[in-house]
Amino acid sequence: MQPAISVLGMGRMGSALAHALLKAGHPTTVWNRTPAKAAPLAAAGAEVAASVRNAVAASDIVIVNVSDYQATQSLLRDPDVTGTLKGKLIIELTSGTPDGAREVQAWAGRHGIRYLDGAILATPDFIGTEAGTLLISGPAAAFEESRAVLGALAGNVQHIGADPGLANALDSAVLALMWGALFGALQSIAVCRAEAIDLETLGKQWSATAPVIDGLVADLIKRSAAGRYAADDKTLSSVSPHYGAFHHLVELMAARGIDRTITDGYEAIFRRAIDAGHLHDDFASLSLFMGRP
Ligand SMILES: NC(=O)c1ccc[n+]([C@@H]2O[C@H](COP(=O)([O-])OP(=O)(O)OC[C@H]3O[C@@H](n4cnc5c(N)ncnc54)[C@H](OP(=O)(O)O)[C@@H]3O)[C@@H](O)[C@H]2O)c1
Repeated sequence: MQPAISVLGMGRMGSALAHALLKAGHPTTVWNRTPAKAAPLAAAGAEVAASVRNAVAASDIVIVNVSDYQATQSLLRDPDVTGTLKGKLIIELTSGTPDGAREVQAWAGRHGIRYLDGAILATPDFIGTEAGTLLISGPAAAFEESRAVLGALAGNVQHIGADPGLANALDSAVLALMWGALFGALQSIAVCRAEAIDLETLGKQWSATAPVIDGLVADLIKRSAAGRYAADDKTLSSVSPHYGAFHHLVELMAARGIDRTITDGYEAIFRRAIDAGHLHDDFASLSLFMGRP
């Protein structure tokens, strides 16, 4: 018999989590502020709780997935709910900051509630599949205890460490990579539109050059980890050719009236590195100019 699980929050993500738990055979109790959103889960076999208190009373493991930690706290800090949670395990899968997670863990500890914090690196369609990724931080014992439950939610579940803030920290780091690609794509689209290149052609070139870009990112991370900033025989490209090509893009954008908010930021980082004498160093030397090394 699989352990019973309660899920608070039936938005897009919370609903996917609850469906995956039901599919894995967990008796699942759900609650949502707007009750109508829980109806598809009831149809799939979940119990729908009439209150947060009833939902948390139904299971020893309570998964929370609402919009932010403020919403989580507004639900859990009700004295009746807090009292009912004593001795149970909360798995907070709402997105938040590292300090937000540390704060909730401290609050949970003061009330005898066990706490794991998680970050979902996937969209709802990846939940319950092998390709889904879930980062978890908090006490190792609680992670081991809930590993099978977490495994029903994503194929790639990783315990990042005992500090509850680590999952959110790594999530933000990976999101920075993602937005780099997405905002880069917005600039590519603007350039193609200005130059009357159809976007299907852009899509094909993105697929063709993706392995090159993946390789550059992997190399940048490896070099930054090792502190190998000076150019050497393994350098793929120094700052100088990057800066030259970057200026071709800036010129084109200026000529076509394309928004340069993002490239202005790139320019500032390039300039800091070049002014400090890194023009002929590896591109990884730019990582020294992004804040704390
Ligand atoms: N969607 C994704 O691809 C994705 C990926 C990774 C992580 N996440 C994270 O998962 C969380 C949920 O995302 P989502 O896509 O499911 O968002 P969503 O569809 O907008 O759902 C938000 C949920 O939060 C609830 N909520 C908001 N404020 C509340 C409050 N004050 N009290 C009680 N419930 C409240 C909503 O209840 P109502 O229905 O009553 O409004 C709803 O259940 C977010 O933290 C998000 O960053 C999402």
